[in-house]
Amino acid sequence: MSSLFRKVLLALACLSGVVGVQAGDGPTRLAAGEWPVSRAEYVGADQCKSCHQVIKAHYAHTKHALAFERNPGDDLEARNCEACHGPGSAHVENPVAVNAIVDFGQDSDLPKDAVNGQCLQCHDEGERTHWANSIHDANDLMCSDCHNPMARFSRKGLQRFDSVNETCMSCHKTQKVEFAKRSHMPLLEGKLACVDCHNPHGSATDPLLKADSVNQVCYTCHQEKRGPFVFEHAPVRENCANCHKPHGSNHESLLKTARPFLCQSCHAHSRHISDLLPVEAGPGGEFSDARIAGRSCQNCHAQIHGSNHPAGVRMHR
Ligand code: HEC
Ligand code: HEC
Ligand code: HEC
Ligand code: HEC
Ligand code: HEC
Ligand code: HEC
Ligand code: HEC
Ligand code: HEC
Ligand code: HEC
Ligand code: HEC
Repeated sequence: MSSLFRKVLLALACLSGVVGVQAGDGPTRLAAGEWPVSRAEYVGADQCKSCHQVIKAHYAHTKHALAFERNPGDDLEARNCEACHGPGSAHVENPVAVNAIVDFGQDSDLPKDAVNGQCLQCHDEGERTHWANSIHDANDLMCSDCHNPMARFSRKGLQRFDSVNETCMSCHKTQKVEFAKRSHMPLLEGKLACVDCHNPHGSATDPLLKADSVNQVCYTCHQEKRGPFVFEHAPVRENCANCHKPHGSNHESLLKTARPFLCQSCHAHSRHISDLLPVEAGPGGEFSDARIAGRSCQNCHAQIHGSNHPAGVRMHR
């Protein structure tokens, strides 16, 4: 059936009150769990399984099946398939009818908020407190873009692909490349995952960061950089991203630029002449210090993240 025809049907259904969603421009936000197709009743999972044999077998290995079938916490969980797909009587009567049952996925005709709302009935707290209007929600992502609850593809988290990282990288190709650069966070080596730093479900800190700032994210693993130091280096305290890339870089130690240019991007004029090139050429102008050329500033300013030495004011020690 053409999607236009489906939409016309849906619009007619809306007008006649069969479907509980409102027609109109823009997304329709329904209360979590509000079932978009109102005239259907629950039929029980045995009915579903009688036709969907293969699905049933794959689903049996998931956490939902274990929870809903063996030890349901409440009436909603005891509905099993219908806890997510909504009441099934209309679909059972006519399995090929459009929108007779909640259909997940990007080609679903139902409003995305209503479909995601089926999951949020049970999962609207904790990690998902900031889901609404997060960048993923605003870009019309669905829970089912990252999760596939119908089968166990990943060891945990019911991910769509083998692992969290592969799930994220299926869309974020640029970041995938960054992690393959000469210096990179050991993500492809399996030592950390996107979700160590990001919360894909939404966060109060851009871009989807798990902590209150970039630095707080970094401190969770690099505690020794937290300080406080007797002599702080201001840009370190402000933001690690002043000097580092978070994912990967072609310069050593994930640096944004090569040294000494990195340092010189802020320290154009210091007491010793730190510039590689003459600042003002010509009579009376300053010239670069021969000691600096071709050398790293850190040959002398070694404690770049801060110093605890009584004489470390210039971060020499
Ligand atoms: C009488 C057999 C039968 C029963 C019972 C049945 N289904 Fe289906 N179901 C089908 C068929 C056939 C299709 C494929 C329809 C199509 O491709 O258009 C289908 C499709 C679906 C889809 C995909 C919908 C879509 O638009 O792509 C979902 C989800 C689904 N069923 C869930 C359920 C659930 C949940 C139950 C129990 C409440 C259930 N089914 C009971 C036969 C059945
Ligand atoms: C935790 C929520 C949840 C439960 C419980 C659940 N489903 Fe699903 N179901 C989904 C989601 C999400 C998708 C879409 C998966 C995807 O994107 O491929 C789906 C897809 C389907 C499809 C369409 C598959 C396809 O390839 O198009 C069928 C049929 C289906 N489910 C039947 C069932 C049956 C039968 C049960 C009970 C035995 C059940 N579901 C239990 C969430 C659920
Ligand atoms: C009726 C309540 C309910 C609904 C609806 C529901 N879930 Fe769940 N979900 C649960 C329960 C209960 C668990 C098991 C929690 C546990 O064992 O810690 C769970 C676990 C999960 C997990 C963790 C799996 C793991 O391996 O750790 C994910 C991911 C998940 N659900 C996603 C979804 C998605 C996506 C949807 C909608 C398609 C959905 N859930 C709908 C109740 C629900
Ligand atoms: C952009 C990808 C993405 C989207 C979209 C997404 N999730 Fe997740 N979700 C993840 C990842 C990755 C994990 C695993 C986190 C971990 O291992 O720490 C996860 C874990 C979970 C868990 C189990 C851990 C927990 O927090 O209790 C639940 C439940 C869950 N998601 C529900 C949902 C629901 C409901 C939606 C839709 C409103 C959704 N997710 C949308 C990526 C996503
Ligand atoms: C289905 C595709 C898809 C998947 C899968 C996906 N994302 Fe996204 N993500 C997007 C889109 C679309 C945007 C918004 C547009 C943009 O900035 O790229 C976005 C934005 C983001 C942003 C914010 C970017 C910014 O500039 O503010 C972060 C961070 C992010 N995603 C992390 C993740 C993580 C971590 C995962 C895996 C758990 C993930 N994404 C999985 C599609 C996806
Ligand atoms: C070590 C922590 C960390 C890990 C691991 C991580 N990120 Fe990030 N990511 C960040 C930080 C911090 C920023 C913000 C940088 C800034 O403010 O300049 C960011 C920014 C982003 C952005 C916004 C655009 C950009 O590149 O600046 C996207 C999208 C993103 N990350 C996706 C991902 C994906 C996908 C993964 C996993 C494949 C991932 N991140 C793993 C820390 C991390
Ligand atoms: C989940 C833990 C974790 C988080 C969070 C984290 N890192 Fe790392 N980082 C690591 C690991 C593991 C290594 C590799 C250490 C090794 O191989 O000895 C590393 C290495 C590094 C390196 C050295 C890379 C090289 O090529 O020598 C830099 C620089 C770095 N991290 C900066 C940061 C910054 C900046 C942040 C915050 C955006 C951050 N890290 C957040 C775990 C983390
Ligand atoms: C002023 C620039 C600058 C800022 C800001 C900065 N770093 Fe660095 N960082 C460097 C340089 C330069 C190196 C290379 C050190 C070397 O070769 O001795 C480095 C190396 C590292 C390393 C690997 C070597 C080591 O010392 O363990 C880690 C990890 C690291 N930085 C983490 C951080 C964290 C976390 C932050 C934020 C709290 C941060 N950096 C802020 C310049 C900076
Ligand atoms: C993002 C800008 C920025 C970058 C990059 C940067 N610094 Fe700094 N640095 C500062 C600021 C701001 C101060 C504090 C100046 C003040 O207190 O007057 C400072 C202070 C210092 C001091 C102590 C100066 C004093 O007066 O006590 C030294 C030494 C220093 N930086 C060296 C370096 C070196 C070496 C690098 C390269 C690895 C570097 N800085 C990179 C901004 C930066
Ligand atoms: C050969 C050792 C050496 C090298 C190499 C070196 N410095 Fe210094 N730097 C010093 C000493 C010693 C002082 C302290 C001078 C003083 O206190 O009078 C100093 C002071 C500074 C100060 C504080 C000066 C002020 O204006 O108050 C800054 C900033 C600084 N250096 C930045 C850099 C940068 C950037 C580079 C690399 C381009 C660099 N240094 C390379 C030895 C060095």
